[in-house]
Amino acid sequence: MNERASSPVLRVTGLSKSFFGVPVLQDAALQLHAGEVHGLVGENGAGKSTLMKVLAGVHERDAGTVEIDGTPVDFHHPTQAHAAGLSTVFQEFNLLPDRTVAENVFLGREPRSGLLVDRRAMNARTGDLLEDLGVTSIRPTTTVSSLSVAQQQIVEIAKAISYDARIISMDEPTAALAGPEVELLYAIIRRLRARGTAILYVSHRLREIFDLCDTITVLKDGRVVGTEPASAMDDASLVRMMVGRPISAYFPDEEPGTEAGRELLKVEDGGNDQLDAIDLTLRAGEIVGVAGLQGSGRTELVEAVFGVHPFTRGRMELDGRPYTASSPRQAVRQRIALITEDRKSQGLSLDQSVLDNVLGVIRSVFPRRTPEARRAAPGVLSSLEVVARDLDQEVQYLSGGNQQKVVLAKWLAVDPRVVLLDEPTRGIDVGAKIAVYQLMRRLAAEGRAILMVSSELPEVLGMSGRILVMRDGRIAGELPPGSTEEQVLQLATGARTEGATP
Ligand SMILES: Nc1ncnc2c1ncn2[C@@H]1O[C@H](COP(=O)(O)OP(=O)(O)OP(=O)(O)O)[C@@H](O)[C@H]1O
Ligand SMILES: [Mg+2]
Repeated sequence: MNERASSPVLRVTGLSKSFFGVPVLQDAALQLHAGEVHGLVGENGAGKSTLMKVLAGVHERDAGTVEIDGTPVDFHHPTQAHAAGLSTVFQEFNLLPDRTVAENVFLGREPRSGLLVDRRAMNARTGDLLEDLGVTSIRPTTTVSSLSVAQQQIVEIAKAISYDARIISMDEPTAALAGPEVELLYAIIRRLRARGTAILYVSHRLREIFDLCDTITVLKDGRVVGTEPASAMDDASLVRMMVGRPISAYFPDEEPGTEAGRELLKVEDGGNDQLDAIDLTLRAGEIVGVAGLQGSGRTELVEAVFGVHPFTRGRMELDGRPYTASSPRQAVRQRIALITEDRKSQGLSLDQSVLDNVLGVIRSVFPRRTPEARRAAPGVLSSLEVVARDLDQEVQYLSGGNQQKVVLAKWLAVDPRVVLLDEPTRGIDVGAKIAVYQLMRRLAAEGRAILMVSSELPEVLGMSGRILVMRDGRIAGELPPGSTEEQVLQLATGARTEGATP
């Protein structure tokens, strides 16, 4: 049956929204059909999250109509949207960290026996829900704060699904997920589509958009540029539509004259409670990729080098001298930077201005260099194409991707010798990703050493000289440039592979 022949389950017309007089959505229109996965793409700040929040009843719209099954609706709170069959997985998590998985899923609508919360029923229903999604690694009674970011994301999705929604919108649901978890989410989405759920799906990962979506809508500067069947588009045409100009090279080439120089960072036989037998050499001018499944020790590796969870065994050298990092502060003193995946808890102070965030590390570790860094800040921010009203704007009002760019700017201010990147382009749009890749090339050309952890295999393969693949807290092997995704996955999962040096 042709889905377009059916009437839409969600119809949005003429939707407009401004914040403090600045238009963020203008005359946006969108239709979702039952059993359709509809991709919503656009650059950072294009208005994707705002659109979802307006639909969900988080923000009031200024103009326009929203209809569900032909009936006009106007939600003032997400609970009203839930009741009408629309639920949302937001870009920023909304879980209560001190409560259990089940308590979060059933927050505000706990099953009761008499006046008391029926914990047994609540846990059982959460267990069924997770099982139905094919999730075996999360227990209903676990406290959310002890879950990984990826597991928390899965709990968010389980919660959204638990409302029996006919329309589910998901805002970058895979931003925190890697390999098998992304596969799990794909399976969940396909199951929902088969049941006739309509899904609005925001992602900056083009691969996912093409893998999952039937239809794609492109937003630019708050306006819908177009809606097309996914089959009628390819990477190049979609990127062109998003940024409004053709893009030549997604992964820029090495800058001329870049070569691997002296050893900047060396780890010998490093280990702690999560890592073992880590041997690693990083040379000036190198970009080394770190791949591996979630939980394989990738993040723990950069955290050990950066002194967050230091090595308790082995030796490190920095530029030929013994190096120890028992705290991040010590690492920063020696001009090592760690740009993390979790911008909210580790990267940024949301209620402070862009400028204060950019100067944050410099002020606390190299106070005397603050004036110089302050002068350089606007240049750094504009080279990263940060979209903010001005440098005094509070970071919480920037779009997700622009917040991530502020994290990058803050660490560049330190003039690092070794740059550790953990999911550096999470949540960043294509244009900004290319800007980050170019920046990485420039940092390498300047003789810095770069170690990049990433779940996005195309990024690891496209940017790295060598690739270290982690498994179970160890470096399972190293792959040369030109390796394939398959080789990385084989090493990461422990399947036998050719061409890898163990
Ligand atoms: N509560 C708010 N107050 C003021 N401005 C806001 C608010 N929420 C969003 N904005 C602004 O609206 C614009 C659109 O933001 P939105 O978060 O919708 O973008 P997005 O397309 O989701 O981007 P990203 O890909 O980076 O997540 C941005 O310029 C942002 O700064
Ligand atoms: Mg967003």
